[in-house]
Amino acid sequence: MAQMSFLVDIEADERERPINVASVPQRSPFRYPGGKTWFVPLFRRWMKSFAVPPRVLVEPFAGGGIISLTAAFEKLAERVVLVELDDQIAAVWETILGGNAEWLARRIVSFDLSLENAKEVLARKPSSQRELAFQTMLKNRTAHGGILADGAGVIKHGENGKGIHSRWYPQTIAKRITNIALVADRIRFDHGDAFAAMLKFKSNERAVFFIDPPYTAGGKRAGSRLYTHNEVDHARLFSMCEQLRGDFLLTYDNADQVRTLALRHGFEARPIPMKNTHHAEMTELLIGRNLRWMEEDSRS
Ligand SMILES: C[S@@+](CC[C@H](N)C(=O)[O-])C[C@H]1O[C@@H](n2cnc3c(N)ncnc32)[C@H](O)[C@@H]1O
Repeated sequence: MAQMSFLVDIEADERERPINVASVPQRSPFRYPGGKTWFVPLFRRWMKSFAVPPRVLVEPFAGGGIISLTAAFEKLAERVVLVELDDQIAAVWETILGGNAEWLARRIVSFDLSLENAKEVLARKPSSQRELAFQTMLKNRTAHGGILADGAGVIKHGENGKGIHSRWYPQTIAKRITNIALVADRIRFDHGDAFAAMLKFKSNERAVFFIDPPYTAGGKRAGSRLYTHNEVDHARLFSMCEQLRGDFLLTYDNADQVRTLALRHGFEARPIPMKNTHHAEMTELLIGRNLRWMEEDSRS
């Protein structure tokens, strides 16, 4: 296997969040649009606030899965369940968790990236699930904004003039992949629908849910160009949350329609500051049955 010397695990776009992410290891191999690395410190606090620790964390809209990965590595729950509908993303998770992590890591490290080579690989019909996983990683790290949905162009200039190489850190990505395989016994991946997964765990009082749907509520359509699967029945999602026996957190656009939905279901909602990929100050909405744990002393 090629010699792997690993880079520092913080990426440029994660350094500038208002919430200090220096303490957040970047565990996901994806560079995911709408990724929740910035939320990890609050997520840890939430998971540690339960009198009886949760047994299972369910992440029904997993994407790059940073929240689930954090829970698995830091043993914040006994096991985690990632759910994702997208075939490309599913291929990556199934490859890593299904015994092909080393293969994928090697494929990435040994790939000679150039615009020409990338185009050639991405134009091919994948011959296997693991090859689709490789194509997905390549696309994720060479497309503008990490966008896997159709229509995203390849990075031509990137930051610091590195062009197509600007987000391709083969050693780092490979290391993340092999690290995830080390905790695979705590992670289950479900290539399926978020609602079906929530139904399955609905009556489990030791299950908690981190729910981060594509943002297409409130007239904002950001999610529609970022993800292949972006149509979510938001009213149904809120009703489903009401039925969950275990606790849950929802993250959303800070939009009027979302706040109204939260209010209608008797949930609490709070704006949380973050920055978008263009470094503009924004807030996202955190919604839950109660958010009192946010007040608790974070030093305890
Ligand atoms: C906002 S992103 C999640 C980002 C994730 N929290 C992260 O940190 O990377 C929403 C994800 O939900 C997925 N998705 C959309 N509809 C779905 C459904 N019905 N079931 C499962 N996943 C779905 C999309 O493909 C997308 O990856």
